[in-house]
Amino acid sequence: MPDLSQMRQEFTTSDLTKKDLEADPFFQFEKWFRQAEEGNISMPNSMSLATVSESGQPSLRTVLLKYFDQEGFVFYTNYESRKAQEINQNPKVALLFFWKEFERQIKITGSITKVSATESMKYFLSRPKGSQIGAWVSNQSDVISSRQILLSKFEELKRKFQNKEVPLPSFWGGYQVVPDSFEFWQGRVHRLHDRFVYSKEKNRLWKIERLAP
Ligand SMILES: Cc1cc2nc3c(=O)[nH]c(=O)nc-3n(C[C@H](O)[C@H](O)[C@H](O)COP(=O)(O)O)c2cc1C
Repeated sequence: MPDLSQMRQEFTTSDLTKKDLEADPFFQFEKWFRQAEEGNISMPNSMSLATVSESGQPSLRTVLLKYFDQEGFVFYTNYESRKAQEINQNPKVALLFFWKEFERQIKITGSITKVSATESMKYFLSRPKGSQIGAWVSNQSDVISSRQILLSKFEELKRKFQNKEVPLPSFWGGYQVVPDSFEFWQGRVHRLHDRFVYSKEKNRLWKIERLAP
């Protein structure tokens, strides 16, 4: 077993001060996201999505951010999956981006709604055909007895949709996370990291406060 207690790293890449921050957290997100994108890091749009069940049990998984604007953050998934069932019971969620090459994380909390079927359709049509069929094949989060079941169903649907457009499954589409808070975290030396939290106030204004690391 490696000695994990000695596994540590100083964070020295950058700093974050109040004057660096955009007044609007969506612009601040965009600024950091562009830097992550231009930094050529692997999958800068991957994010952890936390949901909480009715009984209070949290659950986490990675999803891909496919769109964002001033309204919120959109990803696509199966509407009958475990996450979807938890979202139905409790629409409060959290997102986390961790860009280790930049020693940065962004935490977002908010509530979630489905995007329109038109919006989901637009995205679905932009996917490769194999992924479209994949969405039909998988009863996401259900227990299955073998991988073979998936492969047979995939082949069957591939034949069915040969020379045909794959329709949007009614059980598949997008969710939009509408934020009520953002935290921008920049790693610093001696664990004295920079943390700024934006909380939503009335009139679409955001309060910015520094948090202890
Ligand atoms: C890098 C990465 C990206 C992923 N992107 C998605 C995604 O956009 N949508 C999705 O439904 N699952 C995605 N997954 C799979 C999910 O992490 C998860 O296994 C799946 O959605 C089922 O989650 P659930 O059972 O909690 O509902 C991704 C996994 C990884 C590792």
